[in-house]
Amino acid sequence: MEKIVSLAKRRGFIYPGSEIYGGLSGTWDYGPLGVELKNNIKQLWWRMFVQERDDMCGLDAAILMNPKAWEASGHVSGFSDPLVECKKCKRRFRADQVGEKCPECGGQFGEVRQFNMMFKTHVGAAEDESSVSYLRPETAGGIFVNFKNIVDSFHPKLPFGIAQIGKAFRNEIAPRDFVFRAREFEQMEIEYFVRPGEWGAAFTEWQANVHAFNEVVGIPRGSVHELEVADGDRAHYSKRTIDFEFDFPFGRKELYGLAYRTDFDLKAHAESSGVDLSYLDDASGERFVPHVIEPSFGLDRTILALLASVYTEDELGGEPRVYLKFNSAVAPIKAAVFPLLKNKPELVAKAREVYSMLKKQIPQIMWDDNGNIGKRYRRQDEIGTPYCITIDFDTLGEKPELADTATLRDRDTGEQERASIDNIVSRIA
Ligand code: GAP
Repeated sequence: MEKIVSLAKRRGFIYPGSEIYGGLSGTWDYGPLGVELKNNIKQLWWRMFVQERDDMCGLDAAILMNPKAWEASGHVSGFSDPLVECKKCKRRFRADQVGEKCPECGGQFGEVRQFNMMFKTHVGAAEDESSVSYLRPETAGGIFVNFKNIVDSFHPKLPFGIAQIGKAFRNEIAPRDFVFRAREFEQMEIEYFVRPGEWGAAFTEWQANVHAFNEVVGIPRGSVHELEVADGDRAHYSKRTIDFEFDFPFGRKELYGLAYRTDFDLKAHAESSGVDLSYLDDASGERFVPHVIEPSFGLDRTILALLASVYTEDELGGEPRVYLKFNSAVAPIKAAVFPLLKNKPELVAKAREVYSMLKKQIPQIMWDDNGNIGKRYRRQDEIGTPYCITIDFDTLGEKPELADTATLRDRDTGEQERASIDNIVSRIA
C-alpha cells in the first residue's frame, strides 16, 4: 500500500488534499495523470452503461438538494455510524472499529451514540434551521427526484435505468486507507426501474454487468468476491444486497454494492412531496410504482483496486523495475514519443511531427526528451504507458530502406520492433 500511495503522489496521480496546509483528512486531489485515469474510467462506464444501451438515460443532478429529499429517503434520521468518545483524551472512533479501550491512550469510552454522516450547510444568506441543506451522501437521491421529469420527457418503457456520475460526501468518523474511505468521493450509480415482479432477473443481469465492467477496466475477476449481505446488515432501503469485495492490500473490503431498493424511494418521495411518482405501463394498462435495482460503483475505490491490480515489480535487462500494467483503454498516457537525442534538431523536428500526428488522433500522448532512452522508458513504465516510440537516425533515412520507420517498444516485455510510422500511428490510434 505504501508503495502505491508513494508512486501515486510522486508521479502525479493522487495528492493529499490541501497538502501545503497540512492536509484535510479524508480529502484527496487527483493530479494530471490521476484525472486522465479517472476520466478514462468514467468514459468506459458511461459508454458501457449509458451510450451503448437503449434502456438507459444519463443525468447530472445538483449536489445540493431540498433537505426534504433527505428526510424522505431516511438519511436525516438514519444515515449514521456508531460513535464512541474516549473519556480521557476525547478522541472519537467508530464503535464497530475499536475494542473496549481507547487505542490511543487506553482510556474508557463513553456511551455509543449515532453520528449522522451527512455534511450540513446553509443555502442562502440566512444561517438558521430554515436554510439547512446537505451535501448529497449518495448520487442516487438526484436520480429519484428526477424520475418524473425523465418519464415525462422521454416516456421510457420499463425496464429502464437512469445513470449518474458525480461527487458524494460523507463525514466519515474514521477516513482511512488512502482513497478507500474518503469524506469526498465520486460515485457512478444506476437506478434501474423494473416491474415489481421482475426485479430478480434484473438483479442477476446487473450482478453480471458489475463483473463485465471490472474486466473492461482491468480488475481481475479472481480478486473480486461476492458477499450476500445478511438481514439486519443491509441499508434501511434494501431487501437484497450483494457487496462486491476486492482483495485490497489492507484486506478484503467492499468495492461496489448492488441493492434491490424495492419501491422504497419513489414511494417515500411521492408521499413527502405530494407528487404522484407512479408509472403507467402501456403494456398492461396498469399504473404502479416501479421497483428499482441499484448498482453503485465507487470511482475512487475502482482507482485504488485498479492501481493495486496493475502495480508490478519485475526485472528487465538485469535491473529491477516498477510498472503499472494498465490496459490501453484506461492508461492515462497511450504512448510516448522520443527523439533519440535532444540536441539533434533534425531528430527533434521529425519526432515532433510524429507526436503532433498522433496527438491529433488521440490526445493522451506524451513527449519526453529528458535523460537517456533507458531512463525515459522507466519513467513511462512507472506511469503505465503501453508504448514508447523512438525516432532515430534510421527514421531520417540514414539507412534508406528504414526511412520513415521508428522503434515501438512494448511496456510489458520491453521488446522493441521497427515499423513504419504510418503503421505505428494506426496501431496506437
Ligand atoms: N447509493 C447506494 C450507496 O451509496 P454505499 O454502499 O453506501 O451505497 C456505494 O456506497 C459505493 O460508494 C461503495 O460501494 C463504495 O464504492 C463507494 N463509497 C462509499 N463510501 C465511500 C467513502 N467514504 N470513500 C470512498 N468511496 C466510498
